[in-house]
Amino acid sequence: MAPHTDSAGGVRAHRGAILHFRSDPGSGDDPDTFEFFDDGLLVTADGRVASIGPARELLPALPSDAELVEHRDSILMPGFVDTHVHYPQTDIVGTGGRQLLDWLEHYTFPAERGFADPAHAREVAEFFLDELVRNGTTTALVFCSVHPASVQAFFEAAAARRMRMAAGKVLMDRNCPQYLRDTPETGERATRELLAAWHGRERLLYAITPRFAPTSSDAQLASAGRLATDYPDALIQTHVAENLDEVAWVKRLFPEARSYLDVYDRYGLLRERAIYAHCIHFDEVDRARMAQSGAAAAFCPSSNLRLGSGLFDVASADAAGMRFSIATDVAAGSSFSMLQTLSDAYKVAQLSQQHLSPLRAFYLATLAGARALGVDDRVGRFAVGTEADFIVLDLRATPLLARRTARSRTLAEKLLVLLTLGDDRAVSRTYILGRESHRAGPI
Ligand code: GUN
Ligand code: ZN
Repeated sequence: MAPHTDSAGGVRAHRGAILHFRSDPGSGDDPDTFEFFDDGLLVTADGRVASIGPARELLPALPSDAELVEHRDSILMPGFVDTHVHYPQTDIVGTGGRQLLDWLEHYTFPAERGFADPAHAREVAEFFLDELVRNGTTTALVFCSVHPASVQAFFEAAAARRMRMAAGKVLMDRNCPQYLRDTPETGERATRELLAAWHGRERLLYAITPRFAPTSSDAQLASAGRLATDYPDALIQTHVAENLDEVAWVKRLFPEARSYLDVYDRYGLLRERAIYAHCIHFDEVDRARMAQSGAAAAFCPSSNLRLGSGLFDVASADAAGMRFSIATDVAAGSSFSMLQTLSDAYKVAQLSQQHLSPLRAFYLATLAGARALGVDDRVGRFAVGTEADFIVLDLRATPLLARRTARSRTLAEKLLVLLTLGDDRAVSRTYILGRESHRAGPI
């Protein structure tokens, strides 16, 4: 586990360039939507933001015993929020050569089998969380496996680090190996027990997690809908419209539904705090329904490129008012780095003759994710009283990054260079509740 070198209490002031968002900058980089302090001060106390503003204004008011930390040639921002990732797939990152349904059968399901063993689940959960923190991700919405022990192990590891995390037990009762099946009854019972044990405890949230429509019977989707009604403040997470063979399969399995998304809609699974991974093969009715329901899409560009699934349509999502955020989708996605994932998102937009502005990219990786999870009053932006989860991105982390940054004139140029060339090496510090939880070693 990463060293925890500082205590959470006490007043600490971080001086450096600071960027955070108030709302979506959209394609026009509306200056009212973000705050950037060239020489800013972020003051934390007891794990929360105590003040934020220009250093010259705040420094005189700092208590004399406050610790001052200087971050040069860096940008401080809220920790990244990864809104779709599978921790049991950590050990199959980099597998490939197949599209979704083959990949699930040959790599994913066998890897998830091992999570019946609590010791294995614990070991992988610790590694996974280390990896998130090293990459500057302080909040994530996480798929566990079908085994309740995998959820227990994950939440215990996250609670020990005092991280704001959301996760859930996968529900799947058909069209998968026997060794990974639950039933509508056992899945619902286990979900209710896990909700009672973990939802709202410390900084943890529970997500009702039907894997995707093909692996749940009608009875199980109805059960998931009941759970969503009984726990209106719980999250919901699943996959939708990722791959064309998958879409055709869903059409055969649910002939009465108007579309793949409509399958979930019929069971009451579209609402705020419901996060739908992929949303690629959608029509305008699907996008309008997403927007109207308040559900959010998780745009997973690395995964979509690696599995050859298709290109998320940013412009159509915007036209429909459909909310979306960015996600790694490890292990279909190949990197835990949200910087690398933003770089892939930028390329996906280019392939569609669209444009993702670098400012908006960082909004999507921070506040948009917090909004999708319904925790934007606590993380994803800086305001007095928000939880002090933040990162320091080192603009000189590699020789080329330093060289290109030195030649960049505007904030937008610097951010584009950072997301293009940056990865875990650029995350020089990660703070959780004001406490340093990761410090990059010398290169
Ligand atoms: N659809 C159903 N399960 C999965 C999964 O584990 N990964 C991805 N990318 N898509 C899925
Ligand atoms: Zn996924």
